[in-house]
Amino acid sequence: MKVLVVGNGGREHALAWKLLESGKVKQVICTPGNGGTATLPRCQNLALNVKDFEGIARFALVNNVAFVVVGPEDPLAAGITDFLQEQKIAVFGPDKLGAQIEASKAWAKALMLEASIPTAKAAVFNNREAAQAYVKAQGAPIVVKADGLAAGKGVTVADTVEAAEAAIAAAFGGQFGAAGKTVVIEECLTGQEVSVLAVTDGITIRPLLPAQDHKRIGENDTGANTGGMGAYAPAPLVSPAMMQRIQDEILEPAIAILRKKGIDYRGVLYAGLMITPAGDPKVIEFNCRFGDPETQVVLPLLHTPLEDIMLACIKQRLADLPEFEWKTGTCACVVAASEGYPDIYKKGAPITGIEAAESSGAFVFQAGTQAKPQGLLTDGGRVLGVSAIGEGFDHAFEQAYAALSQIYFDGMYFRRDIGHQVRTIR
Ligand SMILES: Nc1ncnc2c1ncn2[C@@H]1O[C@H](COP(=O)(O)OP(=O)(O)O)[C@@H](O)[C@H]1O
Ligand SMILES: [Mg+2]
Repeated sequence: MKVLVVGNGGREHALAWKLLESGKVKQVICTPGNGGTATLPRCQNLALNVKDFEGIARFALVNNVAFVVVGPEDPLAAGITDFLQEQKIAVFGPDKLGAQIEASKAWAKALMLEASIPTAKAAVFNNREAAQAYVKAQGAPIVVKADGLAAGKGVTVADTVEAAEAAIAAAFGGQFGAAGKTVVIEECLTGQEVSVLAVTDGITIRPLLPAQDHKRIGENDTGANTGGMGAYAPAPLVSPAMMQRIQDEILEPAIAILRKKGIDYRGVLYAGLMITPAGDPKVIEFNCRFGDPETQVVLPLLHTPLEDIMLACIKQRLADLPEFEWKTGTCACVVAASEGYPDIYKKGAPITGIEAAESSGAFVFQAGTQAKPQGLLTDGGRVLGVSAIGEGFDHAFEQAYAALSQIYFDGMYFRRDIGHQVRTIR
């Protein structure tokens, strides 16, 4: 069985690695991939852009690919699944209609309202004056969100009315292009954030282990938002009782309302949640794909073959699959970025020490890297993430940081406080 993975991040390296683990998948092709997927045994890269649907379809057909796994949200929102399905190619990932759950925050909010899924109260605006009047009336703190995909930069948690007004002006001023011509303004929730990634075949939905990521660039959760600087799983914040509530109050109603709308959603439904001080789970957003770096801590703990889960979703037989099996222990991931990220940073620095880092049993999931004849070079903001499994969080993080200390590239930056919520040793 051959599987084609679309994307080039740490998430896709982790997906490829996991798909190859059981031995049933003989080959993974990653497009466009990165230095990690280029050097992973039985994996190779294909030089097609994630938006080259025709090229991807042709490759899948000619090479008899069993199924395609779509990593990032952009191609899903642009309809890659619809395009491939028309040519009878099996895909793990929702179609264009389903991907709206991430690609339009206004659409997702309306869906949640209709299904009575707990979430922040919100109002949707298509013009600046009305949005600003609303913010003045509501007061701060308040959250301003560009409706569409904005690469993680479309949300402002405003502590003052002025900051909210500035965010509204930026959105309607075109800062996020078409993604900002509609704005969602939300009540500001407090509490702790957690990610619950679930897999679904459109009827049955099952959560994976809960994970927590770290979005801010700086220690103590300060500074700019990033794609994610580290993660851990399973997040102790989500007790079995809390997971049951998330299943009953959020995941099941979400898949039911999607079905009611005629949307056959097969893939990952990722619920970004706030656990409020009262102990209630509320949805901050839904994503239509695996999280990065959550995937890099959830998949190492998964014992059930990932290809079995994905095929069950594709064939709409998830209910027939036995309960997912998990390894014991906890998993920690620390991301190393290029100095300057998430703003301006350099590329092309040689990376050393990956083998040494992995010799202790840690996994190095590469993201912004490129395999060149002269060696591995940095090629992006988030360069790689080191994941390690331990008996508890102290042990897992100790191992992840020890492995990371073997790796070097010029301008390497990482947070030393990843997992601060769950570590007793720092
Ligand atoms: N209603 C809210 N209350 C408090 N914080 C929020 C709220 N909505 C979003 N945030 C914060 O902003 C971050 C980004 O918002 P999110 O809706 O996840 O957008 P995206 O991931 O598309 O940028 C969240 O992870 C959370 O920290
Ligand atoms: Mg988010």
